[in-house]
Amino acid sequence: MRLAGRRLLLGVSGGIACYKSCILVRRLREAGALVDVVMTRGATRFVRPVTFEALSGRPVRTSLWTRGEALDHVRLAEEAELIVLAPATADLLARAALGLADDLLTSMLLARSGPVLAAPAMNDRMFAAAPTRSHIASLAARGWHFVGPAIGPLAEGESDTPGRMSEPEEIAEHAARLLLSGGPLQGSRVVVTAGPTREAIDPVRVITNRSSGKMGYRLAEAAWRRGALVTLISGPSSETAHSGINTIRVESTAELRDRLAERLPETDVLIMAAAPADYAPANRATEKTPRQSGNLTLALVSTPDILSDTKSLRKAGMLTVGFALETGDALAKGRAKLERKDLDLIVVNDALQPGAGFEVDTNIVSILHKDSRQTNVSLASKAQIAEAILDVVEAEL
Ligand code: CTP
Repeated sequence: MRLAGRRLLLGVSGGIACYKSCILVRRLREAGALVDVVMTRGATRFVRPVTFEALSGRPVRTSLWTRGEALDHVRLAEEAELIVLAPATADLLARAALGLADDLLTSMLLARSGPVLAAPAMNDRMFAAAPTRSHIASLAARGWHFVGPAIGPLAEGESDTPGRMSEPEEIAEHAARLLLSGGPLQGSRVVVTAGPTREAIDPVRVITNRSSGKMGYRLAEAAWRRGALVTLISGPSSETAHSGINTIRVESTAELRDRLAERLPETDVLIMAAAPADYAPANRATEKTPRQSGNLTLALVSTPDILSDTKSLRKAGMLTVGFALETGDALAKGRAKLERKDLDLIVVNDALQPGAGFEVDTNIVSILHKDSRQTNVSLASKAQIAEAILDVVEAEL
């Protein structure tokens, strides 16, 4: 649990997006965080405090005037490692920017010196209005962080300009990044490749493999949470990455090589989790090939071995992590690949082991170092395996 024991305070102000804050509390709790909730009076009109009490497992505070809790605003503001405001309405942002302290939440915000993450949510014209812009600018100058707002349907109907609160998962990711960054990956440029590639036979048929992209996406998310600037180069995958991750979609192995080559001179860490197709049809038909009687033989040519091909483009000192999905004698094959492709680390898994490899949410891996060191990670979710891989990466930086 990546936020185990971390203390957060969620400030909820009165907007229709309040219902999404209930899900946010769940996500933060699932990550292991301790969440105290403070609501404005307006918020209690949308969602009853008892809902947040049940979800957070902690008493919910709504007033400055509760007997016996007179100085709570100062204590609470100091104790939380991070204050998350979701939704942060135009009114809350205005009161905070002006330093008003007319309720418990704004009093805490005025007393706060540590980090604050706000997820604005309001009508799109209210968000674009000059007073809101200037309040956000002044809070940003005070060091506040912001996530969203996103573009999407508002309570009033469709909109194509920002106003809608970011999704709870995205807010939770930003909160985690603020709490978890600061290690060796902070500020470093990380490129992760993910998923299969696809080589066209004709306009409708392709050669591909069973890679789902899950491992690469979990690695990109975990590196981003640790404060890295992450570019994800992904082949076709049903996975999606949040807006903090610069995602580039590619189709073929050659395209993956080209996109990666552009970035390598400025990359500090490359994690090559993609499973590029090793062969492509020698000729790509421009029209759909009709079915013929009898068999069809396809001539295939090899695609570039990207890691070997782009060796000379690597930034000096770049850490390169490869993957090897093997069947039988996986460790020996993995070590040979580490040497052949000039890698610093290789993550080896055995495709035939139950719970490992393609199309599953779990994995079992061994991480081999250039010297003979080896780290084994037993059956765990791909999100946990990603954290274990990044622990090893950070130890090498
Ligand atoms: N890789 C690559 N270019 C390719 C194929 C793979 O750079 N055309 C990378 C993968 O992203 C992975 C590592 O090389 O990090 C090992 O991939 P794998 O498919 O196991 O290696 P191959 O060289 O294709 O070896 P083989 O298929 O013979 O096992």
